[in-house]
Amino acid sequence: MKLIYEKSKAGRRASSLPPQGLPPAEIPEELRRSSPPRLPEISEPELVRHFTALADRTFGVDTGFYPLGSCTMKHNPRVNERVVNLPGFRDLHPLQEEDASQGALELMWRLQEILAEIVGLPAVSLQPAAGSQGELTGLLLMRAYFADCGEGQERREIVIPDTAHGTNPASVTMAGYEAVGVKTDPRGNVDLDDLRGKVGPQTAGLMLTNPSTLGLFDEGIEEITKIFHQAGALMYYDGANLNAICGISRPGDFGFDIVHFNLHKTFSQPHGGGGPGGGPIAVRDRLEPFLPVPAVVREGGTFRLDYERPKTIGKVRGFCGPFGVFVRSYAYIRSYGPALKEMSEVAVLNANYLLARLRNAYELPFDRLCMHEFVLSGRRLKREHGVTTLDVAKRLMDYRFHPPTIYFPLIVPEALMIEPTETEPKETLDAFADAMLAIAREAAEQPELLKEAPHFRPVKRLDEVRAAKRPVLRYRFEEHEDLQPSDEPRQLEAQKGA
Ligand SMILES: Cc1ncc(COP(=O)(O)O)c(C=O)c1O
Repeated sequence: MKLIYEKSKAGRRASSLPPQGLPPAEIPEELRRSSPPRLPEISEPELVRHFTALADRTFGVDTGFYPLGSCTMKHNPRVNERVVNLPGFRDLHPLQEEDASQGALELMWRLQEILAEIVGLPAVSLQPAAGSQGELTGLLLMRAYFADCGEGQERREIVIPDTAHGTNPASVTMAGYEAVGVKTDPRGNVDLDDLRGKVGPQTAGLMLTNPSTLGLFDEGIEEITKIFHQAGALMYYDGANLNAICGISRPGDFGFDIVHFNLHKTFSQPHGGGGPGGGPIAVRDRLEPFLPVPAVVREGGTFRLDYERPKTIGKVRGFCGPFGVFVRSYAYIRSYGPALKEMSEVAVLNANYLLARLRNAYELPFDRLCMHEFVLSGRRLKREHGVTTLDVAKRLMDYRFHPPTIYFPLIVPEALMIEPTETEPKETLDAFADAMLAIAREAAEQPELLKEAPHFRPVKRLDEVRAAKRPVLRYRFEEHEDLQPSDEPRQLEAQKGA
């Protein structure tokens, strides 16, 4: 496909506005360009076709099944976009006085209340912009709390299981703590014997995802809580997998002291590619004084921003956090109402259905019922046919499915981590399972087909490391001829649509 610059023809325009007869802008001589910019010149229909063709090449939840494990790529209901575009929300300035933004404050307050109820912890801050920022905020709260108790010097370690997402140790390091790894046992739970040896007076806390990134609910959670609380340490819940348990069980009831939500996962939000996210945190009473400011509070029938928290860790994001994300997630939760539990129940059902269909064709490292996602291993395909999990993932693209998360968690060799979400019908799950089974057969019969996949996508197999490390994001004008004849004026008007 040609670049927009390669489609450019001198004098063409995507719009023709009447001349305004305005005086030239007063730009100081030294700041003026010496030559006009080399911008693409193209008619409106060609412009629309160009970007539509590019959009057709992308893949998203609106174009197909996207079972990226732990990322919860669920359908984003369009009603959320309608409400976030209501002028009262859309046009609100973050510095609007409280009197004139009561609706927005009420929405934030109500969202805080709902989130507190979902995880069973009383105090919420909506500020962090992503799960990872929620993690850092939670760890800074731990620091502030222990400093306040006079234990700040002593407690310097955070325990993290070997299944943890990479953001967990990164957040621990950023917060100035030391990460201490703990093993997983043969059933996929935290290894309690290993854990006991690693928790003591030096421990500030635990970071745990439950269900874990293996898609398994930790059967030892009561014992884990006992170990940490007896040592006077705190428990942090990484809420990336909350989609499995909403309305069914609550991290606060298991003993967690701090929880983050990934609003963009559990409560829908167009995400991926670094899109907007929300990572609110909920905490126990004793941690509330340290939460970021401002807090949204209700006084009688009105709502206001409270900055009066002398022990606060300060601000972690501008204003009150990502407001558009709050509106969408609030709309999403309210559309379920008291039936929110059904969301998680169907997510778990869909994952177990897929697991049952795929478990014989791929290896299942931990043979248990899964929660909202599960992890398979492609180790046998590699051993027997020389086909890797990367080859399987690339071949799935030929079947028009987004590949699942691969090579994570790190403790499963050749891992494929599959999360179907609750918004997929049985037909889609079956089509995906059929494709995975067909690929397992192809691995045995025509392994080279997988090695060279994808065959039918706009681009073949990419050098992903190079694409990430040395992306080509700029059109190098110096390497391409300027199609604009030098004697023609650049501001030439073209007929509409020409
Ligand atoms: C288990 C787990 N923890 C934490 C995170 C970080 O969340 P975010 O991407 O919102 O920063 C992720 C993200 O995928 C995750 O899967």
